[in-house]
Amino acid sequence: MRLLLAFALACILLLSTASALNCKSGELRVREDYHGEIIETCVVCGTGYYCPGDDNSYPCPEHSYSDERGQTECKPCDKPVPKKTACMLNDAPDDIRQLVDNSISYGSSEKYSVKSSAHFVFLEDAYFIKQFSRGYRPTLNVVQAAGQTGQITAYFSNTTGNPSESNHSFKTVNTNVTALIAALPARQNLMYVTLEFQRPCDINVGIYNYATAHHDVSVGVNKYVQSGGISLEVFTVRGVKSKSKVTLSISTGQTTRTDYLYWSSNKQIPYPNELNYQARVVNQRSLTVEDEGDVTFSFHTYLPGSMDGVVKVDVTPL
Ligand SMILES: *[C@@H]1O[C@H](CO)[C@@H](O)[C@H](O)[C@H]1NC(C)=O
Ligand SMILES: *[C@@H]1O[C@H](CO)[C@@H](O)[C@H](O)[C@H]1NC(C)=O
Ligand SMILES: *[C@@H]1O[C@H](CO)[C@@H](O)[C@H](O)[C@H]1NC(C)=O
Repeated sequence: MRLLLAFALACILLLSTASALNCKSGELRVREDYHGEIIETCVVCGTGYYCPGDDNSYPCPEHSYSDERGQTECKPCDKPVPKKTACMLNDAPDDIRQLVDNSISYGSSEKYSVKSSAHFVFLEDAYFIKQFSRGYRPTLNVVQAAGQTGQITAYFSNTTGNPSESNHSFKTVNTNVTALIAALPARQNLMYVTLEFQRPCDINVGIYNYATAHHDVSVGVNKYVQSGGISLEVFTVRGVKSKSKVTLSISTGQTTRTDYLYWSSNKQIPYPNELNYQARVVNQRSLTVEDEGDVTFSFHTYLPGSMDGVVKVDVTPL
């Protein structure tokens, strides 16, 4: 009798495990409630995790990482990034600061008081690569507090954790730094930067990663299509002959959030933004500046869907 019971139990157990979905190694089982019905599916293991084949996923243990989906174990790494999706190069300095894209929490940047140098690594988390193909243009901005005018040298590299004068991939020197970091393909989604300061200073460091659309506009009325979602529409009035008063006015769909119109006289800045503008209006959509050559404005806003827009440009020589 006892034997029979044990046999019956074993059968039930077998049946119940047989009816459950077994996932392959590198996958995990997820249960989803679909209108009250529980559905089980196998899902590929995410980056930063490993799935050994017991239907579960586990975060990579200390000193390891997983930069690809569907892994059954994590790879050893001395310097993993917090989400364990990448491994920093071994020559990355121990005081390296990790920055993530902060364009969405709008206007945010990290504040630091610095002496002679600082090291940063950007954790793009594949985000900036993906977004880049969708037209996003990430830019690093480093600005000093007002009144501070020492020079900043920024060295960039994707092959050393400690880029320097002798081994950087590119560099930029300025009082405030604006660099299009997507100019350099990142290694494992990481980009290394060394900042060198002429004098101790207070800096704000941010990455701005907008969906940008560029529009060349001329004097008079220009039609354009504004993309939906959070976007940065860049307008350039080309070849303004001598120093002039340039007015740009925008009309597009109703926005549900605050909108910002920026201008910068610095022609190196691909799109003026919160960290580097010289003039800005909020919720006014019309800005007059004095400038010449190629004059660039950018309009940062949120639209629920794409819409037709109109830009009026007026140029009066001074
Ligand atoms: C750097 O940018 C900050 C913030 O926009 C500004 O206050 C400061 O005047 C700029 N410094 C220089 C030297 O342009
Ligand atoms: C780049 O230069 C820095 C400073 O000299 C050095 O610490 C680092 O190891 C160098 N990187 C490589 C890959 O040579
Ligand atoms: C680093 O960037 C260069 C372009 O400057 C690119 O050719 C190279 O493949 C990148 N290296 C890595 C390891 O991603």
